[in-house]
Amino acid sequence: MKKILITGGAGFIGSHVVRRFVNKYPEYQVFNLDALTYAGNLENIKDIENNPNYTFVKGDIVDEKFINDLFALHNFDGVLHLAAESHVDRSIEDPLAFVKTNVIGTMNLLNAAKNQWKGNFDGKRFYHISTDEVYGSLGSEGLFTETTSYDPNSPYSASKASSDHFVRAYGETYGLPYVLTNCSNNYGSYHFPEKLIPLFINNIINNKPLPVYGDGNYTRDWLFVEDHAIAIDLVFHEGKNHETYNIGGFNEWKNIDLVKLLCGIMDDKLGREKSASEKLITYVKDRPGHDLRYAIDASKINKELGWKPSVTFEEGLEKTINWYLNNQEWLENVTSGAYKEYYQKQYS
Ligand code: NAD
Ligand code: TYD
Repeated sequence: MKKILITGGAGFIGSHVVRRFVNKYPEYQVFNLDALTYAGNLENIKDIENNPNYTFVKGDIVDEKFINDLFALHNFDGVLHLAAESHVDRSIEDPLAFVKTNVIGTMNLLNAAKNQWKGNFDGKRFYHISTDEVYGSLGSEGLFTETTSYDPNSPYSASKASSDHFVRAYGETYGLPYVLTNCSNNYGSYHFPEKLIPLFINNIINNKPLPVYGDGNYTRDWLFVEDHAIAIDLVFHEGKNHETYNIGGFNEWKNIDLVKLLCGIMDDKLGREKSASEKLITYVKDRPGHDLRYAIDASKINKELGWKPSVTFEEGLEKTINWYLNNQEWLENVTSGAYKEYYQKQYS
């Protein structure tokens, strides 16, 4: 039986990856390691918690001894590393927290894997999940490819870039078999409402202002989270060692256009009059160092592994909105307590 360690599996993307692996690969023993920070929530994976091939481990990847002991206990065959501090705005407030988890935490996992596997890498694989934000910002033209130079602008993207470099360095220096993917902005169910789409869905439901940063003319490439999970499954099993793959939706949206689309769909679903939600749009102070545009060229993963998004943006957004409308208790739970303080500080 293969032992697989997934880190960050109680978070947004991680919960979709854990669910997929537990359900699709009963022959694997799947360990989900998560510190359950504000972004981690056992409710996100409640449906699989009693599966015989699933074990949840609460722990912090920054704790070196804990990580070494965990690897010594289980000798994992594969690691899918998603645990991270993931929100740009929080990284501006507290950059060191991002260095701790995203850089030191990744280092601890790399060292534990290297020391545990002791140069015998048969059947082993370390998969590092990263972001397109490491490439910095595009102007109005062009796409990020796997050979685009790293040029991170936010403390979040700088910490992810640093971790990517260490993964690659462990591959070159110690022969660690790794794969690395850089993905565009995800959206879908279980997305913590600090990021644009779930924050705005929550605010529309509650008739609260929709805080658009700057002039709203910033562009992101959006991918449905379940398509990211499919890509991660594919790269873990069929990607080539020591390779990077970009993952994206070929789906660019200016923030303001996306917000207006969201408002229109929500008005229909909530039975509100046309343009009711658009009236909630409020232009607020811009994010410092705000990257103008991200857009991914995902042709390598398409040509080499045959992956492409399975749903259109309209389908994915519809599924996402329906999920939030049908799971308002989840939204209420995650927006009580510490979220209120965060919101007040960020948006007052
Ligand atoms: P998230 O913030 O929703 O979840 C992160 C998870 O990691 C949480 O469950 C949290 O409890 C856990 N965690 C945080 N610090 C930890 C620590 N020190 N030890 C153990 N667990 C810890 O993040 P997400 O959006 O699901 O992103 C997952 C990964 O995918 C990240 O590495 C992120 O950089 C990457 N990524 C995200 C996006 C996106 O659009 N969200 C896009 C591309 C890449
Ligand atoms: P976000 O969801 O934080 O993802 P990222 O910064 O990693 O791309 O933000 C997506 C875009 O939406 C980004 O251009 C910033 C913008 N944005 C707002 O205009 N208002 C908000 O309240 C938030 C959270 C984001």
